[in-house]
Amino acid sequence: MEAPAGYTRSQIVLHWLIAALVAFQFLASDGIEAAWRAFIRTQVVGDAFSALALAHIVVGITILLLVGARLWLRLKHGAPAPDPAEPRVLQWLAKLAHFALYVVLIILPLSGLVGWVFGQSQPIEVHQIAKTILLVLVGLHLLGVLFHQFIWKTGVLRRMFVPVK
Ligand code: HEM
Ligand code: HEM
Repeated sequence: MEAPAGYTRSQIVLHWLIAALVAFQFLASDGIEAAWRAFIRTQVVGDAFSALALAHIVVGITILLLVGARLWLRLKHGAPAPDPAEPRVLQWLAKLAHFALYVVLIILPLSGLVGWVFGQSQPIEVHQIAKTILLVLVGLHLLGVLFHQFIWKTGVLRRMFVPVK
């Protein structure tokens, strides 16, 4: 399949929506952490289950569904080719990081759900590791975007703001 000239409007909307929801999950995880702590202590969640804990679960499931939609669009439409001026090894690294972001965005909500629904600690440990991996990947992603934008001056940010159709 020939690479398209850019991302579509739906791909761009999904990228920013998912980024905002992921930020919410990190900034507002107190509720679910308190609920999980109560469950570990007493084997019941009870009063520790707050609206914020429910929000973590609902937003997490929403992210999973949106990532599914995004992957489907990615397979149907593809993604623009990397800038040929960029060193080959970095083009390859960016591809690997994008792929890893998709994988972690699936493992994270699934591990949370399985641990929560079945009351098991191991999947929640996976959830914590996956959370750290996601943070590292997003950090590398931002570093990549900053290098493109300000050092190599490729205007990569435009790709995630201006759709092809
Ligand atoms: C949780 C936060 C984020 C996640 C999970 C994420 C994920 C991704 C993924 C998976 C891609 C590859 C798209 C594809 O090929 O289908 C991508 C591309 C891109 N992202 Fe992000 N992103 C996040 C935050 C950001 C932020 C904060 C910025 C800007 C500062 C940004 C700028 C871009 C740009 C410019 C591209 C296009 C890169 C290219 O086509 O070479 N992203 N992002
Ligand atoms: C992509 C979606 C999700 C993201 C980004 C995310 C992120 C996070 C983060 C950052 C924490 C705090 C953990 C810590 O700092 O140690 C957390 C905790 C937790 N999450 Fe998620 N989560 C997601 C989806 C879900 C889903 C769908 C569930 C299902 C119920 C869930 C269940 C939990 C539980 C039970 C905890 C408490 C674990 C603890 O306190 O150690 N998460 N999550």
